[in-house]
Amino acid sequence: MKILICYFSGTGNTQRVVYKFKEALADKGAEVDVFRIESPEFNLNVNDYDKIGIAYPVHAFNAPKLVLDFAKKLPNMENEKSLFILNTSGEPLKLNNISSVKLRKILGRKNYELTNEYHYCMPYNIIFRHTDAMAYKMWDIAQKMIPIDAEELLSGKHSKLDDVIFGSLLAYIFRVEHWGGRFNGKRYKVNDKCCHCNACVNMCPTHNITLENGELKFGKNCAMCMRCSFFCRENAIKIGLFEKWKVNGPYNFEKPKVEEVDNHKKFCKKAYQKYFEMCENKIHNYNTLNNIAEEETENVFEEDEIVEKVKN
Ligand SMILES: Cc1cc2nc3c(=O)[nH]c(=O)nc-3n(C[C@H](O)[C@H](O)[C@H](O)COP(=O)(O)O)c2cc1C
Repeated sequence: MKILICYFSGTGNTQRVVYKFKEALADKGAEVDVFRIESPEFNLNVNDYDKIGIAYPVHAFNAPKLVLDFAKKLPNMENEKSLFILNTSGEPLKLNNISSVKLRKILGRKNYELTNEYHYCMPYNIIFRHTDAMAYKMWDIAQKMIPIDAEELLSGKHSKLDDVIFGSLLAYIFRVEHWGGRFNGKRYKVNDKCCHCNACVNMCPTHNITLENGELKFGKNCAMCMRCSFFCRENAIKIGLFEKWKVNGPYNFEKPKVEEVDNHKKFCKKAYQKYFEMCENKIHNYNTLNNIAEEETENVFEEDEIVEKVKN
């Protein structure tokens, strides 16, 4: 089976998931090509593939504009083409399930039929920085889920995310973010910590950052992907109205050796525990069915529970 996965990733989370998915599909004998959506030219023939995958980070409960624009350029299919979607988001909110509504509409009109959609929680690249322990846990869980999902995809079994009531309307409203990127992007600034390495100029997916007379200029074509500010080594980029939500510096996804201060522990416990439990159940059921010895999964909230018990 030949599979093409086209992806956009602002700060690397979705890219990680895509390459792990590719590895899992290849392990099961599929031939997989990966295309980075921001690459200048799409010179692949969609007709050569049995399944097309689109992967992206959820932006304001939607697919990023870049991804929708790419989908509009994909050719119409004469015969129905099997489509799957992979997405990552910072939180396991059910509202994230609406993120593919518009994408599905665009591609549905071109005869791409969604059969499977998989979602993975990955650490936030905006709002707040997850602890290393949480980032590690999310990636650990994703790595265990991906081979199961990839196997399901190859088996032909359909799997979609749950519908959300008024999903299309809500997704439409939240797509204001696409316009917000244009408005807010122009408000980006660098402070005097900038070391003029030009990394931001070179890595912006929409070429929105330019160097004019030795000064960085931010245009109106910002994808809101956070790549420039997230990877800025000097943390010199101010991201306009969202400065308070800025996350700077890549996650290392390794198991932390020292305990960290977690200012969002209570929130995280409430918001993510259900997601982790749901994934752990799926992994456990799969392992039981396939006679696979269980690996320990870590409980990043354990510590907190002990403290709470002591308090009681
Ligand atoms: C502009 C913007 C909007 C976002 N909106 C959401 C959202 O609606 N829901 C959510 O759970 N995470 C949201 N996130 C978090 C990202 O989806 C998440 O961190 C993702 O894994 C980043 O993937 P990437 O590294 O491939 O860009 C948002 C991030 C950005 C930058």
